[in-house]
Amino acid sequence: MSLSHSPRFIHIGTGGFGGYWCDYVLRRLVQLGKAIPAAAVDIIPTNLANAVGAYGIDESCCFTSAEEAFDRVQADFAIIVVPPAQHEQMVELALAYNMHILSEKPLADSMEACARIFHRVNASGKKMAVTMSHRFDQDKQSLERQIKSGRYGKLDYLVGRNTWMCRTFPTWGEFRYQIPAPLLIEGTVHHFDIMRSLASANAKTVYAHTWNPGWSEFAGDAQGLITIQMENGVRVLYEGAKCNASQLNGWGQDYWRAECDQATLILDNRRLSAVQGAIQQNSRVQEIPLEHQPAWTNAWLAELFVDWLTGGAEPPNTLADNIQCAALLFAAIESAHTGQPVEVQEYLQRHLDAAKT
Ligand SMILES: NC(=O)c1ccc[n+]([C@@H]2O[C@H](COP(=O)([O-])OP(=O)(O)OC[C@H]3O[C@@H](n4cnc5c(N)ncnc54)[C@H](O)[C@@H]3O)[C@@H](O)[C@H]2O)c1
Repeated sequence: MSLSHSPRFIHIGTGGFGGYWCDYVLRRLVQLGKAIPAAAVDIIPTNLANAVGAYGIDESCCFTSAEEAFDRVQADFAIIVVPPAQHEQMVELALAYNMHILSEKPLADSMEACARIFHRVNASGKKMAVTMSHRFDQDKQSLERQIKSGRYGKLDYLVGRNTWMCRTFPTWGEFRYQIPAPLLIEGTVHHFDIMRSLASANAKTVYAHTWNPGWSEFAGDAQGLITIQMENGVRVLYEGAKCNASQLNGWGQDYWRAECDQATLILDNRRLSAVQGAIQQNSRVQEIPLEHQPAWTNAWLAELFVDWLTGGAEPPNTLADNIQCAALLFAAIESAHTGQPVEVQEYLQRHLDAAKT
């Protein structure tokens, strides 16, 4: 059932990326009158100042324990911005208090946990969405809309590259140097979601090579080369790296190339173009302006989520959509471990079945 009032939220994790949620995403949502802060939680008390300063929550509604916040404060939905290993625990807590959930990616840190979350949330009847920020950024949305315009014919294959130079602890945030598969779990998860939306299909098969070069300060694999076949036949070739000597395409600066029947669409460092003809002879390169709308990424997704709670349309980043992204992520990790391609839909079904028992 839809809410008839502006939803009240409990925000868990106000430091790290949670600081961005405070300063931009939630400040904007509250200013628009679309949601009301009920509580902010962080285990490090000084991080709570981000919430007080940005969206004006009273200090009496700031807590250092999520359990205490849920116990003491009434709210409609929880916002989870803590490291992935704690997502399942926070989802359980939110459901125990009858709340809807807007969570940071990835859904959880293992396929088993993702499958449990999937069943628990569906059984509860509560709404859940996952903030897959980068798929919903201006540049990727512009590319997606061009592909889907039909102007360039059928999409054949995609090539994607995101390479960074953050081999040194803790350039990319402490916990990422300690977890398994940091590139895939914390980075490529966004690119898997982007592939799904550019290709308009879920993954059929994934084959991944991941490794950790000698100069890496990550505990888990930080480099990867991956091939994917989508269910509609679109092929994807992906390069991701966290330990390079250069940063060619970091966050928000992706390289994606969409080979369509009638043109090659290239997105590179936020410039989009369509190329036809041989590149050195008679080629036609058409620059395509990026799309415009009031907000992108998390600010847009947060707005879509509260609109959904109050009777608006279902957003594109629901749990039902995100479980496909989780399946591709963890199937890729399995492929990297076994050295074999993984059938993603069988992998997902096996985990959903196992989590039911
Ligand atoms: N969508 C994006 O583009 C994007 C970008 C960065 C991070 N993230 C995601 O955001 C989440 C958090 O990542 P981060 O980089 O902010 O991590 P972080 O470790 O830098 O910050 C996490 C914050 O949560 C707090 N915290 C940890 N455990 C807590 C608990 N049990 N209760 C309350 N507070 C707790 C910490 O004190 C800290 O302030 C992760 O899921 C990550 O993948 C998403």
